[in-house]
Amino acid sequence: MRIREISTADTAAFTECLRRTNEESGTAGQPIDMGEVERLIKMSCKHSGKNIFVAEDDGHIVGYSCVIGGNQLSDRHKGIFRIILLSAYRGRKWGTRLTEAAVSWARKQGFRRLELSVASNNHVAQVLYQKCGFAVEGIKRCAFFDGKDYHDEIIMGLLFDSALDCDGAAELQ
Ligand SMILES: CC(C)(COP(=O)(O)OP(=O)(O)OC[C@H]1O[C@@H](n2cnc3c(N)ncnc32)[C@H](O)[C@@H]1OP(=O)(O)O)[C@@H](O)C(=O)NCCC(=O)NCCS
Repeated sequence: MRIREISTADTAAFTECLRRTNEESGTAGQPIDMGEVERLIKMSCKHSGKNIFVAEDDGHIVGYSCVIGGNQLSDRHKGIFRIILLSAYRGRKWGTRLTEAAVSWARKQGFRRLELSVASNNHVAQVLYQKCGFAVEGIKRCAFFDGKDYHDEIIMGLLFDSALDCDGAAELQ
């Protein structure tokens, strides 16, 4: 298994990965449009503020991480981070490797920060994020409902150079 940047040659395999991850997480709805996926990959390949990293096993894409940078002057310095692996591939450090690949790329791109949110009952993801340098920045109470219970949404961020100036540092009241 290896981790690498996505390319347009991955369109069919990545579409299948999205279909399977949606199915596993119970979010499968409309069939995924392969043309849309190709457009997304092309945008990631040529847009300097976006990228997708895939975990490939025997020709199959079994998970991915991505960074989605902003388009505006106000948010171009930061990226949103996402990650998912098919369940059969979890717990073998592939999540760590996918996160490290995306973080290292974002650092080289000159991003000032990465951010994400995670459900409070997702302990594995929280361990992973803290290990990779993310810190808790806030909590949205009862933001997720899983059909049975409510869970807080934990907001996490990673600053590449926390020594850089930032005016009006938030002091939560
Ligand atoms: C979150 C996810 C990407 C982590 O990837 P992974 O390959 O399973 O994680 P890793 O094997 O790299 O382990 C990361 C850390 O979590 C810990 N961990 C892994 N599985 C665990 C488990 N079942 N219970 C407790 N801790 C666990 C590991 O010990 C590791 O820490 P360590 O290196 O200090 O030992 C993966 O589990 C996943 O896809 N989950 C579903 C989607 C998801 O939750 N995405 C994030 C939404 S915010």
